[in-house]
Parts: sequence; C-alpha cells; structure tokens
Amino acid sequence: MNNLRPVGIIGTGKYVPEKILTNSDLEKMVDTNDEWIVSRTGIKERHIAAPDQATSDLAYEAAIKALESAGMTGSDLDLIIVATITPDSSFPSTACILQDKLGAKGAAAFDLSAACSGFVYGLASATSFIQSGMYNNALVIGADCLSRITDYTDRNTCVLFGDGAGAVVVGEVPEGRGFKAFDLGAEGAGGSLLQMEGGGSRLPATAETVENKKHYINMNGREVFKFAVRVMGTATIEVLRKAGMERTDVDLFVPHQANIRIIQSAMQRLELPEEKVVVNVDKYANTSAASIPLALVEAAEEGRMKAGDTVLMVGFGGGLTWGASVLVW
Ligand SMILES: CC(C)(COP(=O)(O)OP(=O)(O)OC[C@H]1O[C@@H](n2cnc3c(N)ncnc32)[C@H](O)[C@@H]1OP(=O)(O)O)[C@@H](O)C(=O)NCCC(=O)NCCS
Repeated sequence: MNNLRPVGIIGTGKYVPEKILTNSDLEKMVDTNDEWIVSRTGIKERHIAAPDQATSDLAYEAAIKALESAGMTGSDLDLIIVATITPDSSFPSTACILQDKLGAKGAAAFDLSAACSGFVYGLASATSFIQSGMYNNALVIGADCLSRITDYTDRNTCVLFGDGAGAVVVGEVPEGRGFKAFDLGAEGAGGSLLQMEGGGSRLPATAETVENKKHYINMNGREVFKFAVRVMGTATIEVLRKAGMERTDVDLFVPHQANIRIIQSAMQRLELPEEKVVVNVDKYANTSAASIPLALVEAAEEGRMKAGDTVLMVGFGGGLTWGASVLVW
C-alpha cells in the first residue's frame, strides 16, 4: 500500500443507547451471577436499544458526530458502508436508510456482513475505493442491535451482548499517515459455531422457526473462544508483517471487545503492556460490528492517541471471519 494515496480516518463519532442492563438485572432473568459473568468475560453492563430504536437510529447518531468532527455534512459524502448483522430489515439496506437521513444524495450506499469483523472489513473496502481514485471519502459505520437477536432465556449467550454504533469518516490524509496494511480472512467451515439460522432463504420465518428459537444467536462458546485466541494472535502478527512493523511499534492496540480473557491472551502473546490496550468490554459487552469503532472512538475522545501514533485494530467473529489493520493516526 506504500506508493498509494495515503488514506486514513478524518472524523469519529459513537453512540450507545441510554438503557443499561447490568449483571444484577440479568441475575433476575436467568440463572447467572455477577461473579461468574465478570470472572469469565470481564463484562459488568451493556447498553440496550429502546423499543423504537433500530440499527439505523444508532448508526445515525454516531454518523452525525463523525461528520461534524470531520467538518463535513452528509451532502459531502461519496460512499456509505454500514457493517452490521442486524440491519433494520433485509432490504432496503441500513446504509440506504442512512443515506436518506443524512441527506447524502450523491453517495453510493451498501451494507457489509462480516459480523464482529465487519468494521475492519469496511475500513479496508473504503480505503481501496479511495486509493483507486473511484471515491474521495467514505463514511464507515459499525452498528448492531444484538439485543434483537438475543435469547434472554439462554444464559450461555444473553450475558455477552449489547447494542451500539461507531462511525468514522475515511479520506485522504497527509503523507506518512493513514492505513499501512490490512489482513482480512475467513474460515467458512466454522460458520455453524456462531450463527442465526432463521429468517433467511434457507429457513424463512414461520411459526415453527419462531417456536424453535431459530431467530436468535446460537453459539458454541468454547470453540469460538479457541478460534478467537488463535486468530487474534495470527492476524496481528500478519498485519504487522505486511506493514513492515514490529509489535514494539504499536502505540495503541484496539481489539474486538468480546471477552477480557481473549484480549488478555493477545496481550500476553504480543507482550503488550496494559496502557497500550483499549478495553471497554466492561461497559458495553460485545456489540459486534460496533465494538472496535466504539473502542477506537472512545480512545480518541480520551486523547489516548496523538498524530503519528501506530494503532492496531483486530477483530474476529461470525463467518467465521477476522480482520486486522495497522493505521498511523
Ligand atoms: C461463552 C464463554 C464466556 C463461556 O466461558 P467458559 O469459561 O468457556 O465457560 P464454559 O463454556 O466452560 O462453561 C462453564 C459452565 O458455566 C455455565 N454457564 C454458561 N453461561 C453461564 C452464565 N451466564 N452464568 C453462569 N453459568 C454459566 C455453563 O453452563 C457451564 O456449566 P457446565 O459445566 O455445568 O455445563 C466463553 O466460552 C467465551 O467467551 N467464548 C467466546 C464467545 C464470543 O466471544 N462470542 C462472540 C464472538 S464475536
């Protein structure tokens, strides 16, 4: 990517819904307890969308802030990519709903489905569009309302997820800054380890699919855990190799916020000190495509990176998929 137009992040915004669901709230819903949840996952609470809020509403709030911080309005946008697995509906896409709400009349718009890796896939797509010269900028959003596909009678999954949205504007940046490398991948053979079976063309919604809970997240937690620990390490090493950098060059590590134990295993493997790692899984739980941008934007708001810092983002999720990027802030 070295000889191409430098492309990076020129605006950031985030949004989480107001309602907070704590571990003690969950204790009243399923057979679980705060001690189990905190020790196994690091999660203390999560935000849940109001009944009248859909994914596009969360995405809109984050998008407005990102545009404002870039000094732009919707009409300046060339492209809108929304990474989500909980679109408002199958179609129109959530990106098209946003294009209208943002007044982005000239912009192309599409949704991208790569689960929790979706935001990094979206960044790589936007960067390629801009480097090719096809577009000059893009709004990339990771937004999900996992609460809408979570079975709140299943303790194996309901403690893990929350709702939110994070948005960035991607565009040309000064020489030497911007994205240095991406590493995207998939292991489709593991798709059934983390899935929602119902509601698509294979198993359209019927009274029977609803009765059999086919419209909820279904997960093999232990196998996903093993996959996550493996690819967090391999994707990080691979993306650094592509960027021609060492792990000691990383100033800020922004991992997918699924489980504190998965983050800690990556920290150990990469010998990263705590102050270089962004962790907010305690407050938001796993927000799928929103997880990495929520962590990135929060770190930016807290002044944790300065111009020229090397930021490494890495995520994994349903598909199975993974995505990592090296960005000079
Ligand atoms: C789900 C996860 C937290 C479970 O942690 P774990 O240490 O692997 O726990 P185990 O699966 O070994 O289960 C241990 C026991 O706790 C129980 N348990 C599961 N959820 C529980 C809960 N919320 N409260 C109390 N007990 C629970 C299990 O039923 C099991 O009991 P058993 O041994 O009697 O069957 C962990 O596997 C994980 O984080 N996996 C990855 C999930 C993920 O990140 N998914 C999204 C990817 S994007």
